Amino acid sequence: MQSLVHNRIGISGPISFDVFMELCLYDPSFGFFSAGAVRPGQAGDFVTSPEISPLFGSLIGTWVSQVSPGGRWPLVEIGAGSGALLLPLAATLSDGQDTWAVERSEASLELIASIMPEATVAASISEVDSGDVVVVMNEVLDNVPAALVRRTETGWDEMVVDRDGDALVLAEVPARTEVAAWADSYLDSIPVGSVASAQLAASALVQEIFEQFDGVAVCMIDYGGSSQELSARTEVDLVRTYRHQRTGFDFLAHPGETDLTVDVNTDAIAAMGRAKGAQVTVRTQREFLNECGVQPMLKDIRDRENAAARAGDVMSQLKARSEAVGLRALVDPSGFGSFKVVTMTRKPANRDGAAASS
Ligand SMILES: C[S@@+](CC[C@H](N)C(=O)[O-])C[C@H]1O[C@@H](n2cnc3c(N)ncnc32)[C@H](O)[C@@H]1O
Repeated sequence: MQSLVHNRIGISGPISFDVFMELCLYDPSFGFFSAGAVRPGQAGDFVTSPEISPLFGSLIGTWVSQVSPGGRWPLVEIGAGSGALLLPLAATLSDGQDTWAVERSEASLELIASIMPEATVAASISEVDSGDVVVVMNEVLDNVPAALVRRTETGWDEMVVDRDGDALVLAEVPARTEVAAWADSYLDSIPVGSVASAQLAASALVQEIFEQFDGVAVCMIDYGGSSQELSARTEVDLVRTYRHQRTGFDFLAHPGETDLTVDVNTDAIAAMGRAKGAQVTVRTQREFLNECGVQPMLKDIRDRENAAARAGDVMSQLKARSEAVGLRALVDPSGFGSFKVVTMTRKPANRDGAAASS
């Protein structure tokens, strides 16, 4: 096993944690997402909101229709996974509204191409036609490689992965200049001695979206919070792992065999959006889905369940009850409902009558 570890990572000296995370998740030969099966799903390695209920995609469709009246703006889902969000969301779109699925996972692209032939699949947003766009991302930025830093009396150290005999270990070195600069900008509230993730690549992805497109409406959903909310993280809960619906794997002993994720810093995402001229709103998934009409949807399901019960239609009654269970899980304040939703909207430059105002 140990020689396999080294064959995979193949390092002769220390590499920064973001480089390690990139290899573990996206290396073409052994990356968790790029070399393996489609990962999200009840039978996969972890479940996400769209995997819990297809109504999640339908509800996001309400927001999409508000920011792109008439459906003029193409919809792009970044990190589309199994297509569980895009499929029901696409059903809510206007006729002729272009749909794109962008994925770093080859297996995901193949699956989505087979179940949604009307969508255009792409390996990167640079392949998407420029112009105006609505972007949806669910649980993607937590999988974008991040550096790990520790505040010192004088500045920042960062974690590197190094070899110690046959094992991989974490060590700390002075932070690279750009990592320290990012940490200075967004990690004000981290006390000396504490650790945090520095999400330069997530910031860069958001920047790329705003620089590639003109009118932009982005809905970013993920676990995480403000710098203040994330300031109590420790070495133990800074990086999460998922495999076969379980957490807590020793990722240094099993590179590429487990998901690696960090809590998304919503302050940094919001700051990039504002710097690019967007109106930004941050709220919980529960609040956002309430805005999208989850309560009337729940009432409708309850009414259907009651009507089915009165008619003695047990199958319809059970179906409605299971829909309600899924929907309630999406707004559970101690679960998915506590996730953060950052919406960022920017009108197109120098053109009248355009959308993206929500
Ligand atoms: C945790 S999964 C979430 C999948 C899906 N959005 C869902 O909610 O079920 C994260 C996905 O994002 C993809 N991903 C990460 N960074 C990406 C990027 N820059 N562009 C496209 N896909 C990306 C990964 O390949 C992975 O499939």
